Amino acid sequence: MKIPFFRYPHVFEQHREEALAAFLKAADRGAYILQDEVQEFEETVATFTGARHVVGVANGTDGLMLALRAAGVGPGDEVIMASHTYVATAAAVHFIGATPVLVECAADHLMDLDAAAAAITGKTKAIVPTQLNGRTCDMAGVMELAKSRGLLVVEDAAQALGSRFRGQCAGTFGLAGMISLYPAKLLGCLGDGGLVMTNDDGMAKQLRLLRDHGRDAEGEVVAWGVNSRLDTVQAAVLLAKFKHYPDEIARRREIAARYREGLAGLRQMALPPGPDEGDHFDVYQNYEVEAERRDELRAHLAERGVGTIIQWGGKPVHRLSGLGFEAASLPRTEAIFERCFLLPMNTSILADEVDYICDVIRGFYE
Ligand SMILES: Cc1ncc(COP(=O)(O)O)c(C=O)c1O
Repeated sequence: MKIPFFRYPHVFEQHREEALAAFLKAADRGAYILQDEVQEFEETVATFTGARHVVGVANGTDGLMLALRAAGVGPGDEVIMASHTYVATAAAVHFIGATPVLVECAADHLMDLDAAAAAITGKTKAIVPTQLNGRTCDMAGVMELAKSRGLLVVEDAAQALGSRFRGQCAGTFGLAGMISLYPAKLLGCLGDGGLVMTNDDGMAKQLRLLRDHGRDAEGEVVAWGVNSRLDTVQAAVLLAKFKHYPDEIARRREIAARYREGLAGLRQMALPPGPDEGDHFDVYQNYEVEAERRDELRAHLAERGVGTIIQWGGKPVHRLSGLGFEAASLPRTEAIFERCFLLPMNTSILADEVDYICDVIRGFYE
């Protein structure tokens, strides 16, 4: 068998005819910038997630940057986040002039709340929990901590569209939340794209100004802004794909359950929580496992046609060079990065392929 980690052509092929028709409908009208499809897609996601407002932007990184900026975070402020996140979370903070403060993650690989609490100083302005791998943090705990210490919460929900904690969607707990629409994400477009969700009317207004050169609905410039709009043709394709999104989440949850069954009892591995555990509704952007002899296991899988990756090129943010975190030491996160990697998890994976991967892993440890 040949099971690549991700099948990029599938992002388009999967719903090819519908996506093509949607693209042509926009392109044939010459509808490229902030046309009807953008608003329709924003409203569709708002209905799906329960967010009061959704604002389409050029990519997730911009979305987080604009949300933090609209929230008033800036020079002199510290922003707490887990080091087990994409460099983009920290870069968004850096580029508004604030300082990212990196903390440990817990056993489920999401931000450790005690570590976040311990990192709060007089300069801390916000917490940015990453809703990693399609799982939402204990947002009751995050919101309580933020409230008790007078901090803002802006969620990096890049990997978590439709993920829920106690029935509420990722991205809708804090002042704002960002979703990435990068091709390999849960809902991927044919290039870059992103969303910001907020329940705050003032934030939504600010975000709409910020993403479009500070122009209001009449086209009048009333504030400083940038160019970070979700393309209309991308919104058209996303709308077509979104019809299938609930089924795709269900499919990912089935695959997760199948991995859990196939790898049950293997003491050499730690698996992500199952799809129906506790307060969480996980949507499995990724299937991130921990494994003994990880590198040998990955080589064994590769020799048998199975592609895997280690998230973020194998390093948490505080271990990336050139960013100024050389002095940071996060031993628990570092220990996880000795063991963690991602098994294939996407809607192109077949049940037989999951079974094969589980057999190959079992064969390795036997
Ligand atoms: C956790 C996390 N944060 C931020 C981003 C950045 O999103 P984008 O690539 O859309 O800018 C990504 C994905 O790429 C991500 O996985």
